[in-house]
Amino acid sequence: MHFSPLMIIASAIAGSAAHVTLQPSSKHDENDLITGLDWNDTSPALVERNFLARCGLGFGKCSDDGCCSTAGYCGKTKAHCRSPDCQIDYGHCDAHMTPDGPPTSGIPRPKVGKVPYGPKVVRSCVGAGNIALTFDDGPNKYTEDLLDLLDKYDAKVTFFITGNNNAKGPIDTPGMPWASMIERMYQSGHQIASHTWSHQDLSKITPEQRRIQILWNEVALRNILGGFPTYMRPPYSSCTEKSGCLKDMGNLGYHVILYDIDTEDYRHDSSSAIQGSKDIFDKNLARAKASHKSWLVIAHDVHEQTVYNLTEHMVKKASKDGYNIVTVGECLDDPEENWYRMDESSELTILRKTKPLATANRVISHDGRCGGNVTCRGSKFGSCCGKNNYCGNSPKHCGFGCQPNAGHCQKARHTSTVHKHGPEKRPATSDAGSLLPPGLSVVELVLFAALASSAGDLLRLLVFALIHESLG
Ligand SMILES: *[C@@H]1O[C@H](CO)[C@@H](O)[C@H](O)[C@H]1NC(C)=O
Ligand SMILES: *[C@@H]1O[C@H](CO)[C@@H](O)[C@H](O)[C@H]1NC(C)=O
Ligand SMILES: *[C@@H]1O[C@H](CO)[C@@H](O)[C@H](O)[C@H]1NC(C)=O
Ligand SMILES: [Zn+2]
Repeated sequence: MHFSPLMIIASAIAGSAAHVTLQPSSKHDENDLITGLDWNDTSPALVERNFLARCGLGFGKCSDDGCCSTAGYCGKTKAHCRSPDCQIDYGHCDAHMTPDGPPTSGIPRPKVGKVPYGPKVVRSCVGAGNIALTFDDGPNKYTEDLLDLLDKYDAKVTFFITGNNNAKGPIDTPGMPWASMIERMYQSGHQIASHTWSHQDLSKITPEQRRIQILWNEVALRNILGGFPTYMRPPYSSCTEKSGCLKDMGNLGYHVILYDIDTEDYRHDSSSAIQGSKDIFDKNLARAKASHKSWLVIAHDVHEQTVYNLTEHMVKKASKDGYNIVTVGECLDDPEENWYRMDESSELTILRKTKPLATANRVISHDGRCGGNVTCRGSKFGSCCGKNNYCGNSPKHCGFGCQPNAGHCQKARHTSTVHKHGPEKRPATSDAGSLLPPGLSVVELVLFAALASSAGDLLRLLVFALIHESLG
């Protein structure tokens, strides 16, 4: 246990004064999660404690359980403590919150299938005619809207999930929206993959820290799904052979997935700049034909323009150019049962329940034939399985007689093309905000939000109950 209840209150109070202290990092979306609240930096109740102590290389650790910011100052604000910017070697960080439940380290990790595991790296799909869109760093406040958009187009993508970054708190935190978003991703047919627990540079930390980065994310995902992924992408695409990272990933049973189109969406997150990412995507697609090439694309669902502008462009452009939008696993021709490892002791069976034997045994068509356990989804022959057991994209395949268990069918496609007009509207408040307990005063809401990102579950609830009580 890292905090006494009093300290939690203190750090929560300091935490809500977040953005005065540090400049946002250029690499990440640093928006506060709770957008609907008025964070008053100068209000007396929220005055930040004075932590002038230096920390980091050459200074050492923060005393007093303080967090060491990127700039090398000790403090307890969100900006000091949030991963990945907080320096894990020189003080406390939100990343040090351990997820509940038994460890996953004892779960067997056989290397099944033909997709290479670490130390090999995967940069491209196999086959032709597919595009695997991937979204890193979430879930975050825009992710639910992204899921709506993808549903509209019946597009299946891959989410590389970070367990506890950008001050969102652990993904399995009760009362926060992340767990249900991740479950929805899975239920909608998207692939869930790991982007580590708190987004550290895996080449720059110790082997033991690397293990923790992988294993803690497994525990949190297991707490949501009953199992955890076999696919991962290293933060900053950094996992070198020299550091031992690639070998470690292999030993932990992971496919290390990079990409062959980088949309650079993190550099273009404004309505005037996002065209740059669209151009990158379009120019790459122009380099080959769908009949000859598949693509593995990186983007980030923590960026507003990615969710409300770029993704729809990519989905439309991909379809126009004759590509299927598929998950990374499909793009690598890896059967779905290889994408996850079950925790047999977990009572959660989400990964099992929605995957009856028939689906688990499903294979992607290699010769254009389909039906039974052979699906067209992800094949290069087209995504619909027609009544004569051949894959294709024509109305003959996707319309009357189309076999919904062996690929897409027109009904889904039809609803997916109805919404052609205009970019998606943003909600007035974030999803995180709307899931806060109802009927609370602003002060309580602020405290709750701050607590949600700075304390362990049990203590958080306890302290919150106390505060609620005392504020009446
Ligand atoms: C914010 O703090 C300032 C300074 O204490 C105060 O004048 C102002 O009324 C506060 N605003 C709100 C919305 O609480
Ligand atoms: C979407 O991107 C285009 C540029 O490609 C830009 O002109 C437009 O304003 C953006 N839309 C929104 C809602 O930001
Ligand atoms: C697909 O079904 C056939 C016939 O039922 C069976 O022989 C084959 O093993 C199945 N393939 C897989 C990968 O389960
Ligand atoms: Zn990332």
